[in-house]
Amino acid sequence: MHSAFLFSTAALVASALASPTIKRGNNQGQDDHPGGPGGSSHGGGDHGNHGGHGDNGFSPSLPDGFPNPSQDQINDIEDRAHGTLPNAPLPTGLSDDGITNFKLIAFNEIFEVAYFSELVQNITNNVEGYQFGDDKDEVLENLNVILAVEELHALGANAILQANHVDPIKPCKYNFPVSDFESAIALAATFTDVVLGTLQDVNDIFAQNTENGPVRLISSVIGNEGQQEGLFRIIQKKTTPAQPFLTTSTRDFAFTAIQSFVVPDSCPNINTIPLNTFKPLNVLTQNIEPKDQQIQFSFNLSAVDVDVESLSLVLINAQNKPIVEKLEGTDVNEGVVTFQADFPFEDSLLYGLSIAAVTHSAESFDSADDVAKQTIFGPGLIEVN
Ligand SMILES: *[C@@H]1O[C@H](CO)[C@@H](O)[C@H](O)[C@H]1NC(C)=O
Ligand SMILES: *[C@@H]1O[C@H](CO)[C@@H](O)[C@H](O)[C@H]1NC(C)=O
Repeated sequence: MHSAFLFSTAALVASALASPTIKRGNNQGQDDHPGGPGGSSHGGGDHGNHGGHGDNGFSPSLPDGFPNPSQDQINDIEDRAHGTLPNAPLPTGLSDDGITNFKLIAFNEIFEVAYFSELVQNITNNVEGYQFGDDKDEVLENLNVILAVEELHALGANAILQANHVDPIKPCKYNFPVSDFESAIALAATFTDVVLGTLQDVNDIFAQNTENGPVRLISSVIGNEGQQEGLFRIIQKKTTPAQPFLTTSTRDFAFTAIQSFVVPDSCPNINTIPLNTFKPLNVLTQNIEPKDQQIQFSFNLSAVDVDVESLSLVLINAQNKPIVEKLEGTDVNEGVVTFQADFPFEDSLLYGLSIAAVTHSAESFDSADDVAKQTIFGPGLIEVN
């Protein structure tokens, strides 16, 4: 039982957050899932799964009509989200890059809807690992607002795509590598940090294209996601500010990271998102402490034509120049490469999210964008404190 919501004395499990890619496209049994959210889905004519939990992953067809709510249902989602969808004219005439930005945002926000709706269901249904005492209502109050907010973020991004005559992004089926509240919150904190970094990239791309229309809107979403992150950090008994300048990310890193939660071949139109998907990089070290150390990683070299000796391990943190490290103690076993690399915590104060990537060898990189261009395996997501 979780004895207290915000200040629980329960040991907090931080292991899941270090390596959310490990269960990439897994086939964990779904039979013990609680019942789906019911088949009262409206619309969604071309959306095959109406039951929430299918035999093969979780699909967000919610009782409130998401992903295709009627106007009445949207009103209800807005009530629960404590605010409306923007009623100003939607930005139109977007560049191809601007369209890609909103495709990625929709893809991400729909994934978040799936995640938080399953989390709310787990808590509501007292699923093992998600059982609370008196504070159950307080937990659900926060998470229900977050769920409705993410629904509006997703609907808003898809509405902008449609206003630009682009098909909306459709939900996939998902499997999440968590089975208790603490690891679920740790994972939510990690992917929210990736979003907080990636929306910086989105705004930067709008700026490069002198396309200011959506920047105010995106910036308002960054603030909202930061508020959510604060809640996840309080639950984990961390200081609410993680670092003064949040770690940046790029679209390709986010696109790859989200796919680690997607059931392979379950996304109706992911192929319309013109972004790169890297090969997975697993972070093997768990419960990473705020100190200098070596961190262990692995990747699967099969089907990749590259000389392991010619690779670098790069760390992206805050708004700093990426840190380049050597792969040490490289060991190849049945195509899987395991190695260590320095994690220079003290020098660079690597608080918050660090994004690790295995790249073609380089002396240095100027920016996260430069890293992404040379990345083969990644992102490995490391959270400290
Ligand atoms: C909900 O609980 C099930 C069963 O333990 C688990 O497989 C799933 O990952 C959980 N989802 C979330 C978001 O916590
Ligand atoms: C590595 O990748 C190959 C080819 O993609 C696959 O057949 C193999 O099962 C993978 N190995 C592991 C340990 O995942």
